[in-house]
Amino acid sequence: VTYVLVTIDQIAKYVGQEVKMGGWLHNKRSSGKIQFLQFRDGTGFIQGVLVKKQVEPEVWETAKQLTQESSLYIWGTVRADERAPSGFELDVHKIEVIQIAEDYPIQKKEHGVDFLMDHRHLWIRSPKQRAVLKIRAEIIRAIQDYLDQHGFTLVDPPILTPSSCEGTTNLFHTKYFDEDAYLTQSGQLYMEAAAIALNKVYSFGPTFRAEKSKTRRHLIEFWMIEPEMAFVDHERNLEIQEQLIAHIVTHVLNHCKSELKTLGRDIEKLEKIKAPFPRITYDEAVELLHKEGFTDFKWGEDFGAPHETKIAESFERPVFITHYPTEIKAFYMKPDPARPEVVLCADLIAPEGYGEIIGGSQRIDDPTLLAERFEAHNLPKEAYAWYLDLRKYGSVPHSGFGLGLERTVAWICGLEHVRETIPFPRMLYRLYP
Ligand code: 4AD
Ligand code: MG
Repeated sequence: VTYVLVTIDQIAKYVGQEVKMGGWLHNKRSSGKIQFLQFRDGTGFIQGVLVKKQVEPEVWETAKQLTQESSLYIWGTVRADERAPSGFELDVHKIEVIQIAEDYPIQKKEHGVDFLMDHRHLWIRSPKQRAVLKIRAEIIRAIQDYLDQHGFTLVDPPILTPSSCEGTTNLFHTKYFDEDAYLTQSGQLYMEAAAIALNKVYSFGPTFRAEKSKTRRHLIEFWMIEPEMAFVDHERNLEIQEQLIAHIVTHVLNHCKSELKTLGRDIEKLEKIKAPFPRITYDEAVELLHKEGFTDFKWGEDFGAPHETKIAESFERPVFITHYPTEIKAFYMKPDPARPEVVLCADLIAPEGYGEIIGGSQRIDDPTLLAERFEAHNLPKEAYAWYLDLRKYGSVPHSGFGLGLERTVAWICGLEHVRETIPFPRMLYRLYP
């Protein structure tokens, strides 16, 4: 018989058949007469069953030698089993060891977070971490599918930049030969140029913020999806955001059932995520906070995590907070013509305390006003000359937004902390592994 290497995610097709699989021993228990091998191959987990009386003695002995994370080939017959978490088991009759693993550092017992983070390169093999990375990949797929199907073109902005987008306080500085350069905080300004060239565009890539904040929502290196759209105003911008988010959630519910189950995610909460999403103004949000006990919150302050959580509690769907004070928002946001002390912007706050997952706005299209904002923010006009050009040569109304991938993953997976949403997190005190 010749065997094709079968993967666990395809196992349903092989019921009653002999298969060969490649993978690792996840766990094992034995009753003396039967050995149960928890086998994983990266696509899933399956229990292999060895009955002493039914296998060759050397197969039995080999199985006994297997340590956690030993790599092996395994041969057996696939059996459907309702009691098995995956719905299937493997009746094992042959094993070929590739490597007997040394004592594996991650044991069944509870480990501290620092220990797990130090062993992140191994920790990602565990069922929950694997499920998160799988869902992350599906979220990225859902976003790209949606944007590609709605006429957006993928454009890649630079990572090394001569100037800042979101303010100068958290820039990563580096030398660019004899010049100064910064790691990008956001591709937005470049995406604005691209939207004039290609109409509807989006970028997807890493961004960097030297933020000295050690919270469960902040990473130093995080990934952002940044759509930018010509001829799209503030209102339409919000509609596109809510449709995109609803699409992501539906996609994950349809494609990641077993991963959500592994994570113990409350699916009912996700099933409620349907467009449209509620919208409240910053003013209304402040009023809500006053009623909810944040009595000393003053108009003009920015919301912190506790404020966002409190606001989100009133809604089952993500909520847009619109029209923030001009003073506390980025220089490029368009003031509301009816009320210039606020801008045509919105932050999208996820339910269940996951905080801001999107920041977006209509952009200033008037060259004179933009020049004024540059003065007000003390920005060097020379460094941004190219950006100001965009308002000289065929300026049009346009809007865009940035969706933070890790916070979105944390929300959809129901994770306490963003550190588990990215394979190798870069955090305030962590650059290893
Ligand atoms: O609100 P932010 O700073 O917006 C921008 O950068 C705009 N230029 C985007 C645009 O309009 N093109 O960041 C956007 C999103 C936030 O809503 C949040 O989800 C995420 O990026 N984010 C972070 N995620 C993890 N760690 C951090 N330190 C983050 N900072 C922002
Ligand atoms: Mg923001």
